[in-house]
Order: sequence, then C-alpha cells, then structure tokens
Amino acid sequence: MLTREENELLCRVEGDAPMGQMMRRYWLPACLAEEIAAPDCDPVRVRLLGENLVAFRDSEGRAGLMAEQCPHRKASLFYGRNEEGGLRCLYHGWKFAVDGQCVDMSSEPPESGLCAKVKHKAYPTREAGGVVWAYMGPAAETPEFERPIFAPSENTRVAIFKIVSQCNWAQGLEGGIDSAHSSSLHSTDMPAARVPGSTATGTAWARPTTDKSPRLEAEETNYGFRYAAIRRPIQNSATHDYLRVTTFVAPFHIMIPPNNVYNVYQMSVPIDDDANVIYLCAWSDTTAGVDVEAWRKFTGTQFGVDLDKTYRKLNNRENDFGQDRKAMRLGDFTGIRGFPNQDIAMQESMGAVADRTSERLGASDLAIVQFRRTMLQAVRDFQAGKKPPGVGIRAADYKSYGSWERVVPKSTDWRAFKP
Ligand code: FES
Ligand SMILES: [Fe+2]
Repeated sequence: MLTREENELLCRVEGDAPMGQMMRRYWLPACLAEEIAAPDCDPVRVRLLGENLVAFRDSEGRAGLMAEQCPHRKASLFYGRNEEGGLRCLYHGWKFAVDGQCVDMSSEPPESGLCAKVKHKAYPTREAGGVVWAYMGPAAETPEFERPIFAPSENTRVAIFKIVSQCNWAQGLEGGIDSAHSSSLHSTDMPAARVPGSTATGTAWARPTTDKSPRLEAEETNYGFRYAAIRRPIQNSATHDYLRVTTFVAPFHIMIPPNNVYNVYQMSVPIDDDANVIYLCAWSDTTAGVDVEAWRKFTGTQFGVDLDKTYRKLNNRENDFGQDRKAMRLGDFTGIRGFPNQDIAMQESMGAVADRTSERLGASDLAIVQFRRTMLQAVRDFQAGKKPPGVGIRAADYKSYGSWERVVPKSTDWRAFKP
C-alpha cells in the first residue's frame, strides 16, 4: 500500500514529474529498429515520457528522433518527406537533419541566415539489440552508452516484440517482477511437469513445481534489486527447493529467469502517465536462440495479426481481450491467448494508474514492495541531487548476478550462488 503522494511520485512521468526527469538520465528504448528499417523510410510516431516525437532514418542510415511539431509553425513532421539527409516539413519545406539542425529553408530568403540559426529539438540515438535508444536528459550528463544486457554482442540472437499497453508503466513493471501470478494467470502456458527446470517446448514453458505460493526474499543492489521466489519442487521436495531469481535494473528493466533454451528480458517504458510499451526479448548467446517470428507467434504478438500498426492489441478492453469462456470450461485457466495478453488484460483492468492506497498486499508481494521502495528512494535521492541507481554502472556488473532458475539443495544461499 502507498499513500496517494507516493503513488503519484512513483507513477507520474510527464513534464516536470520527478520520476520522468530521473528516467531522462538513462538511455531509453524509443522504438524497434525494424520500425525505421531502411534509409529514407517512412517516419514513425514515438511518444515517450509524455513527449510526442517522430523517428526516422536518414539517407546515411542514421536514426533520428525529434519533436513531432515543426519549430516553424508546429505542423506535424510525421507527415514530412524523409529525403536526402533529413526530414522535410510539408507545410513550408523546412528540413532537419538527425541532430535537429535546419539544413534547408526554401520559404525564407537565403540572406536572412535564419536556417543556420534554427535547431529543432532532437535527441541523440544509438542502436543495439534491435532497439533504437535515445537520451533525453541534460547533454552534460549523458552516460556512456552500454549495449543492453539482452544483446551483449552484435551477434547475439535477439527475438523481441513490443506491445502498447493502456496503463501506467509501474503496472507493467510490477507484472514482470510478480513471480506468484505465473502459477495462476499463466498456469495453462506454464504447466507443472516432471522436468529438470523451466523447459521451453515451443507452445509452453513447463516448470518443475505445482507450488502456487512462493516464499520471496529480496536483496538490494546499487542498480536496483534481486529477489528469489522459492517453491517446492515436484521431485525431492524434502531436501530441495525450486528457485527463480529475478533481477530488477532501474528504471524499468527486468531479467526474468531463463528456460533451457533462452533468456528472457522485459522493459516497461512509459509512453506517458497512462500508457507504457512493453518490450519482451528472448535472447541467447548461442545459435540456438529464438526465431523472431516463432517468438511472436508463441506469445501472440505478431504484427498485423495480433497487433495493429500502432502496436496496440487487437484483443483489448473493447472485446474483453478475446476471452473465450468455452475454452475456460474446457480447462484453459484464463480463456485469453498468449501470456503477454494475459498480463496486459490484468494490468489494464487495474485502471490507467492503479489505486495503490487501498490494496491488500500479501507475503508473495514482497518483490512489488521492494520495487516501490527502491524506486521511491531513488527518485527522492535524485530530487536531493544524487545520481540515479545504475547510471554509470557497466552492463557486465548486472550480468555477473543475472537471473536464473534451478532446483537446488535447501542449504543453498541464493544470494551467493552462481549458476
Ligand atoms: S510548419 Fe513546418 S515548415 Fe512551416
Ligand atoms: Fe505475467
């Protein structure tokens, strides 16, 4: 449970809201690289931390991210022409390079010198892991760009999708660190089985436990926190535990325990106060990674099939998320297809910004409580002039802890264990 003030501090990201200002100190996912696949491609709309932006790729292949409204008289650059090294506004033809510099101004006499003086708001970008990243904070505090944990090298095979979810980022995030819900909400897709660990079958993730009430333990770190969800395994339950260790990296990254084939990684990126983009990556350092289309099919997130062209779900609140009551009577736990869709159905059903002032939390919500404590402390420290957690820490430091899952002897100290 939070006070109303704490809930606002945690959730609000628009304008001067401290959480949004703090998030601007990190490199943030702006869009998928495939959305602006080729030089001079069609521009796309991006909304991030309540700002309307437009992303494009210039003739040399550089990704640009700039304010959507043209600085001249505020027409949308989304409709612009992406040509010969910049994005040209349709209205009077002003043209901007990826760094925001106006490079052509046919509507003004050349001697006016206005063109050279106009610099549109544009954010620096980087590309890695199939994502275009942007830095929206003060230039003087730009942190060094680190490859994301889910793509440690150029050769890492990453299968990634994104979904726009119509609720606040913290709801998306809390879904990702809520180990207990998987035993109910995802029980059809994550069945209990006599398997050595979490096992990807292509249509489900089997798990070696029937235990629906995990005991949780958390540990704070300098970049966020980690926690263990401890369950009774199907086999050897007298001597062993089934542990799932999840790592939270501020401000919105989650290293979800892997299965026998690939690692899983979630980001819940604020569009504004009332919506977030969920990116979910399956990745592997080996060639046995996950095929992008197979991943999207498995998760029910295929572009044009499950999602519309703005990455909104076709199964949404308007049609009760496509819930199939008949399937439920035949044994499907939710009647909702695909585990991200099950997650989003629950998260959106809580309201755009969940009312955390009247919740009834239990022991299995320990990681949720830790997340709120960590981020509220971080944002208060940030207001007092401190550096946000994780900024300046190398990705290798998170990786040395990572996330893991395993049936281990009860005597195992998960905090020290290195799988
Ligand atoms: S409004 Fe864009 S050039 Fe005039
Ligand atoms: Fe989930």
